[in-house]
Amino acid sequence: MAELTVITNNMSESKYLIDFHTHILPGMDDGAKDVEESLWLLRQEALQGVDEVFLTPHFYASQNSPMEFLKRRNQSWKNLSACLEPGLPALRLGAEVQYFDGICSVEEIRHLRIVGTNLLLLEMPFSRWTDRIISNVIELNGLWGLQVVLAHIERYMPMQTDAVWERLRAYGVWMQSNISFFENWRTKRKAASLLTRGQIQFMGSDCHDRTVRCPKWDRVPNQVKNVLMTNSASMMMQGLNTDGVHLEYA
Ligand SMILES: [Fe+2]
Repeated sequence: MAELTVITNNMSESKYLIDFHTHILPGMDDGAKDVEESLWLLRQEALQGVDEVFLTPHFYASQNSPMEFLKRRNQSWKNLSACLEPGLPALRLGAEVQYFDGICSVEEIRHLRIVGTNLLLLEMPFSRWTDRIISNVIELNGLWGLQVVLAHIERYMPMQTDAVWERLRAYGVWMQSNISFFENWRTKRKAASLLTRGQIQFMGSDCHDRTVRCPKWDRVPNQVKNVLMTNSASMMMQGLNTDGVHLEYA
């Protein structure tokens, strides 16, 4: 029985910066190719003041079953954890689950939530969402105790009406945005407005590599970081679930 260790700092501190969305686990997807690249990315996260990094490789139902994915993730984690060094952020395993038709009938999906929490990071279709899709997301939120967090919402904003976002929020769906939303001069006002109204719960670098898609927390204004750190810490405390379902994995 291999044990997955969740390394966690003191999250109850009021200022705690979480990178909620990364592709740092080696060899899992289009993110870090090997352990060396993973460590480079984690060192950058530490230098940029990140306290905890969620490791959220892509899960595509068309490529792996949830259990096959978890076995691959377990192996990748073993490779990385054997090489971790002092001074890196705390790490937490998770997944970026791509929405698929029928997701609400696959109970194993619950094992893909962020370890030690009830949070499920959900990647939505890059299209105008149908009523069926929206209804399924609402059904998934709360199913098996899950709290759905939509990944990089800014990508989908131009394609959905305001009513769609209002409906999702009214049913308690949470939102994650990428750093680029706060960096781009065309969108940063909108991003700050959503954050201060509590309509973005988490932020992620969505980093993949050491070239184009690397962590850029140093480009996030301090005021934004301050709001984010306070919001994320309190949201994480609400989302914590210590039932230990994932902590040991064969
Ligand atoms: Fe991603």
